[in-house]
Amino acid sequence: MTRAPLPAAPVPKAELHLHIEGTLEPGLAFRLAERNGVPLPYAGPAELAAAYAFTSLRSFLDLYYATMAVLRRAGDFADLAQAYLGRAAAQGVRHAEIFFDPQAHLARGVPLAEVMRGLGEGLAAGGERFGVSTGLIACFLRDSGPAGALDCLHQLLDYRGQIIGVGLDSAEVGYPPELFADVFAAAAREGLHRVAHAGEEGPPGYIWQALDVLGAERIDHGVRCLEDPVLVRRLAADQVPLTVCPLSNLRLRVARSWADVPVREMLEAGLLVTINSDDPAYFGGYVDDNFQALARELGLDDDTLRQLAANSFRASFLAPGPGRAAPDRLRRAAPDGQRPAAPDPQGRAGTPARDPG
Ligand code: HPA
Ligand code: ZN
Repeated sequence: MTRAPLPAAPVPKAELHLHIEGTLEPGLAFRLAERNGVPLPYAGPAELAAAYAFTSLRSFLDLYYATMAVLRRAGDFADLAQAYLGRAAAQGVRHAEIFFDPQAHLARGVPLAEVMRGLGEGLAAGGERFGVSTGLIACFLRDSGPAGALDCLHQLLDYRGQIIGVGLDSAEVGYPPELFADVFAAAAREGLHRVAHAGEEGPPGYIWQALDVLGAERIDHGVRCLEDPVLVRRLAADQVPLTVCPLSNLRLRVARSWADVPVREMLEAGLLVTINSDDPAYFGGYVDDNFQALARELGLDDDTLRQLAANSFRASFLAPGPGRAAPDRLRRAAPDGQRPAAPDPQGRAGTPARDPG
């Protein structure tokens, strides 16, 4: 009797653009709602999932912030983190640099101590269980303004050892990166990595500001860079990583159809593209689902998919680079063959993760 071949294992990869609150699956949301006595305005998980029909970033954010109301205690954040790592590992993720939104929890009266303890415990236990190394990146909500971001950074510094960097997310248009110059400068003085969402819905000028005013080491999304050829040359020359999220772009109408998902164009322009899931519980797939969709919808071949996976390790903060210090917890190496052989212009590539000891 002949057997069908086993499906190929997903290619090992790092995930660099993932909001932990965006991994809240409807089933877990309802379990936490019950555990915490927080009502959700839906009859059940299926009805909640049916509400995931977004027309813009804003329409998604409204539901995303409303649903995270069920996250109250450290144990909730720990369950969320462990659930993500289990799913991610099954999709080939070996390393994840994970965003969280402290201000969204503080605004609901959830103490930062609960958030940090829960994420810390969940990532440690899940990382061990599923074989995924992790780092946490705290994002400032741009629509809460620069003063709110500075206040948030000061609170985060009590947990300095638990975070590797800061980011900038939430509603983009009308909140240019330059508003956040001071808080990013303060984060840099603390030795934190800096990344920023830019060029998702906002114009290419926001990407310039993220680079030149905030000192962003990676650009999250960045797909609108293609509107500015000078910017594309800069991003390519400096090999600035772009964390692209195809299923997110489709669900939030950043791209109208697969023909508008510019991964091929970005690769052809010599950009350091990585593929990520953003808010997978809301956007219809985890990171390997994004890889598979690129193969199916854009016809990307196996070599290109392997290149995208290799890029993810190269673009991670595991890779040594100027001013980069890989903390102990990030030392678990990428699998052999996932690090590029040749150094890039920033000297990030070609050596294993720096041993800080
Ligand atoms: N963009 C901006 N902010 C976000 C996103 C996103 O895709 N997901 C969660 N916060
Ligand atoms: Zn995002």
